Amino acid sequence: MPEVSTDHWEAAVEAYQAQLRAYFDERGRGDTVATQRTIQINSTLVPKRGDALVGHLERLTPTTLRDRDVLEVGSGFGALGTYLATTHGPRSLVGIDQQADLIGVATRAVHGAGLDDAIRFAQGDMVDLAPVADGSIDVVLVNNAFLYLTTRDAMTAALGAFRRVLRPGGWLLMYHANRWRWTEPFTGDPIVHLLPAPAARQVCRATGWRHNHGRVKLLSPPATRRLVRRAGFADVTVEPAGTTGRRRGPGRHVSGFFAVAGRRPNG
Ligand SMILES: C[S@@+](CC[C@H](N)C(=O)[O-])C[C@H]1O[C@@H](n2cnc3c(N)ncnc32)[C@H](O)[C@@H]1O
Repeated sequence: MPEVSTDHWEAAVEAYQAQLRAYFDERGRGDTVATQRTIQINSTLVPKRGDALVGHLERLTPTTLRDRDVLEVGSGFGALGTYLATTHGPRSLVGIDQQADLIGVATRAVHGAGLDDAIRFAQGDMVDLAPVADGSIDVVLVNNAFLYLTTRDAMTAALGAFRRVLRPGGWLLMYHANRWRWTEPFTGDPIVHLLPAPAARQVCRATGWRHNHGRVKLLSPPATRRLVRRAGFADVTVEPAGTTGRRRGPGRHVSGFFAVAGRRPNG
């Protein structure tokens, strides 16, 4: 990868803001508060999210992104991957997302910022990661994307794909919303995500609250750890978001978000 720097990130912020404005204008959604928020989340607010993600990686594993071949799975508009590529020194960074229109925004923004050689995006499904060669990646990052897999079969297939593309000794880091939280992560409404779907529907009808059953599948930290272990990862550890130490006791798994890491065993 050529030398990149925080100046490149500044250029990327401008390019992303322009591309995102065009993307939402084309869809007639340019002026909404939600759009403005999405643009911020994918430009000026990225460093905070990116540095937090790297913090989890560095606490849970012995690796960093520096000089590593990195894959970001579910890369969305690509701003997170672009920030990591320009400020955390990976050898290469590839972003994969299933949505062609988001890959289009990412590719145009990176081109606009003069970063074509620093980061590449490709369309693909995380259940097979077809565009990625076996054993070609040192670190797989999955930020707020795994929860869009709503069946155990899809989750198991995706974890198998993460393992396949990692080099022996390579690391997986996933970060997403915790099932064991008080409010639904997208709507902010209380407890409906903890109820079975039929009960959640009834409660929502009675209260006006909203849920996302069927659109996302929230897992608890212990359930995620079991799933990752069963997929053949070693040294699997979890960390609640927003803390730097290992807290003890049952309460340690109740947090809005959490990170989980696992290593592809050697051999
Ligand atoms: C909330 S966005 C996160 C984007 C990015 N990781 C970030 O943190 O800024 C989730 C992304 O996951 C992608 N996604 C969902 N299911 C996927 C799948 N099966 N394969 C690849 N990408 C997927 C969606 O298209 C969406 O862009």
